[in-house]
Amino acid sequence: MTMAVPQGEGLAVVCRAVTKEFRQGSVIVRALRGVDVEVRMGELTLLMGPSGCGKTTLLSVMAGILDPTSGSINVLGSDIERLTSRQKTAFRMKNIGFVFQMHNLLPALSAMENTAVPLLIARRPRNAALAAARQLLEGVGLGERVDALPSRLSGGEQQRVAIARALVHRPRLLVCDEPTSALDAKSGHAIMQQLRDIAVEPDRAVVVVTHDPRVIEFADRIATMDDGRITDVRETKA
Ligand SMILES: Nc1ncnc2c1ncn2[C@@H]1O[C@H](COP(=O)(O)OP(=O)(O)OP(=O)(O)O)[C@@H](O)[C@H]1O
Ligand SMILES: [Mg+2]
Repeated sequence: MTMAVPQGEGLAVVCRAVTKEFRQGSVIVRALRGVDVEVRMGELTLLMGPSGCGKTTLLSVMAGILDPTSGSINVLGSDIERLTSRQKTAFRMKNIGFVFQMHNLLPALSAMENTAVPLLIARRPRNAALAAARQLLEGVGLGERVDALPSRLSGGEQQRVAIARALVHRPRLLVCDEPTSALDAKSGHAIMQQLRDIAVEPDRAVVVVTHDPRVIEFADRIATMDDGRITDVRETKA
């Protein structure tokens, strides 16, 4: 059955009956088995669930990085499965920030250059891009390390560069896969506060995958996943 995606006000993402199958030789892994979920504008939504339940796959599908096997996905008012791959790339570069579970920094670029990448791809002047990157890095406590290569940064520092990079082009939808996994309590708290500040803006939304219970206090809503499905969504506000 196909269902039209409602163009609800204030919805950043609407997933309907989304499935994703990976083929590995003769084995088919059913990573998403019919996901129905909505992400609201102006909110920070947590996505929690056991390892292997499909969280990274769902984030990737929401961000237009992976195509679903079936189902429909509306992101910021666009039915992304109707876009050509070129349109999808342009849409993603303009509107979406992604903090990957593995930080995916470019090893030959400094922290500042890595952070500036989304702006450089969008053809912003190099000086302006680097200045914006420097400001973001100062915001995540790395103002002294802007010229360091990723190999000279600790895991937590690399994670903060990845977060700065995802924020630098002010995306309307920000998806973060375990953004605090390598951070101590103090930097984890600072990062979550920054994500929270972004999420309260009425035309922006943040989705965070986490196993970290310290992150719960920053959430507006918690979606729980198990075995390829959303099993529960609850508001955290009283
Ligand atoms: N590219 C791929 N090819 C084959 N199988 C995959 C691929 N990516 C993910 N899977 C499988 O899909 C399922 C969901 O994986 P996913 O990475 O979404 O889980 P997760 O909830 O993010 O787990 P974790 O908390 O460990 O990061 C797993 O069984 C995984 O092995
Ligand atoms: Mg994952």
